[in-house]
Amino acid sequence: TPRVVILISGGGSNMTAIADQVSAGMIDAEVAAVICNNPEAAGLQKARDRNIPTDVVDHRQFASREDFDRALMASIDSFEPDLVVLAGFMRILTAEFVNRYEGHMINIHPSLLPKYQGLHTHQRAIDACDTQHGVTVHFVTEVLDDGPNIIQAVVPIFDGDDAATLQKRVQQQEHVIFPIAVKWFVEGRLRMVKNAAELDGNKLPSTGLQ
Ligand code: GAR
Repeated sequence: TPRVVILISGGGSNMTAIADQVSAGMIDAEVAAVICNNPEAAGLQKARDRNIPTDVVDHRQFASREDFDRALMASIDSFEPDLVVLAGFMRILTAEFVNRYEGHMINIHPSLLPKYQGLHTHQRAIDACDTQHGVTVHFVTEVLDDGPNIIQAVVPIFDGDDAATLQKRVQQQEHVIFPIAVKWFVEGRLRMVKNAAELDGNKLPSTGLQ
């Protein structure tokens, strides 16, 4: 059974969306561990409630990004994952880290990449008067919030939306598309080949729906 390690920093709603599909038998995988950089994160308790092994690697205990990433790699590797899932993991990763899991690590980013890399994506989409926004699951490569797109979902932006209402609408779609990407990967249907994502051997569009 393919082993999945999920990295979180916060509430863990994407982690539970994936873990609950695994428990329900909809995804044939094992959530080998949930690893978190923040000992206070609410998601840790949600993992414990589901009897998923957890580990905390607190970035504040390390002098450098390199030291933190090495400790994180040691933790991840101890669970022998086939897939590493960044589910709201809010740390920038070193090239050494990214290279180690290349082709085996996916991330969710709350925008229609390549639009709005970085933070505050919902507010930025509103400020730009965009009429739609969304979320992207992508393979992680050395460039932050870059890397080949796997799946996107689009949501409308309505008059009167603020960042909170828009984030809520986007998150509902996150919980739909992230488990799909995990399922594709653990079934061996999804691969990264020469910096492009392939599903069933067909190259997926790299720049999304714009
Ligand atoms: C998610 O909405 C995800 O899109 C975002 O963090 C949230 C975590 O929520 N990720 C990023 O901003 C990555 N730069 P969750 O802990 O409830 O899954």
